[in-house]
Amino acid sequence: RSIKSLTTSSSSHILRRGYASEAVPDRKVAVLGAAGGIGQPLALLMKLNPLVSSLALYDIANTPGVAADISHINTRSEVYGYSGEAELGKALEGADVVIIPAGVPRKPGMTRDDLFNINAGIVKGLCEAIAKHCPQALVNMISNPVNSTVPIAAEIFKKAGTYDPKRLFGVTTLDVVRAKTFYAGKGKVPVAEVNVPVVGGHAGITILPLFSQATPKANLSDAEITALTKRTQDGGTEVVEAKAGKGSATLSMAYAGAVFADACLKGLNGASDVVECSFVQSTVTELPFFASKVRLGKNGVEEVLGLGPLSDYEKEGLEKLKPELQSSIEKGIKFANQ
Ligand code: NAI
Repeated sequence: RSIKSLTTSSSSHILRRGYASEAVPDRKVAVLGAAGGIGQPLALLMKLNPLVSSLALYDIANTPGVAADISHINTRSEVYGYSGEAELGKALEGADVVIIPAGVPRKPGMTRDDLFNINAGIVKGLCEAIAKHCPQALVNMISNPVNSTVPIAAEIFKKAGTYDPKRLFGVTTLDVVRAKTFYAGKGKVPVAEVNVPVVGGHAGITILPLFSQATPKANLSDAEITALTKRTQDGGTEVVEAKAGKGSATLSMAYAGAVFADACLKGLNGASDVVECSFVQSTVTELPFFASKVRLGKNGVEEVLGLGPLSDYEKEGLEKLKPELQSSIEKGIKFANQ
């Protein structure tokens, strides 16, 4: 939109070209865990994003095949595959955005916190490498439990002296994607027009969709709002159970991860009014990290937006989620400092 308005207002051909090339700068995106269930379709979607000029696909194994496959797609970005820890530095060097879907997913009966023991260590190692090779990158944390992995990343970056709260994001976009889909279905409103903020964290009751602020307005009863809230909170478990031991959401997560990374890239490139919900360092509540609407800009977080007016039901949900979210945050901080 901004490119168009700039070019049409300018009468000079040279100026027009100048703006066009300025508007799409080179951007390197690295995906860590790129050979996994989320990583592969996410890599595909990032390959389709015209804002990306270089796509680095890193995993501990199987990346050469994924990279060769995706590299044949005739879109802008160059694709490079990196396999094994020895190549992690090269994958990260010069990255503007690093997306992390590395780690194990849930099986039926597991909570996201059950993944902590394995994924905390994976995230720690990857963040140490980010601090060393691309400390300026925007980090999009997908690996669960996000409520703990984001605080872990913050602590690792603090230890390395590279922490910038504007550049660290827990990806909660899938909660927003689900809330929009479920709301549109129930409220019979066009899904493409729906907006619903989702705040709090990314696990069970810490996921708090604010349907009272949803647009367009749909005429839903309190019971329907309660059911929609619950379905949004349990959306991940719905997929885990349907996959019956074969993992958790991968395709919808890849979509959500691609939407969030695209917003980060647009912000970096100077687009105005890029707003997405994300789990970030925050003063919106007394908790040190919290998901809410965030305005993205040239340095990452431009502004953490407040909660806006809440219904009584949402106020209650907010108070209920705080102790769990607080303890997940503390667990991450403690792990990183042990
Ligand atoms: P997956 O098991 O299919 O893929 C994970 C990939 O990570 C594998 O290719 C594995 O080799 C790789 N990996 C493991 N250790 C690594 C390391 N040290 N460095 C680089 N790569 C490494 O799992 P899936 O389904 O792709 O899920 C990945 C993570 O995303 C899980 O933690 C899952 O819970 C989380 N997730 C988060 C969501 C969110 O909304 N934030 C939604 C769905 C899943």
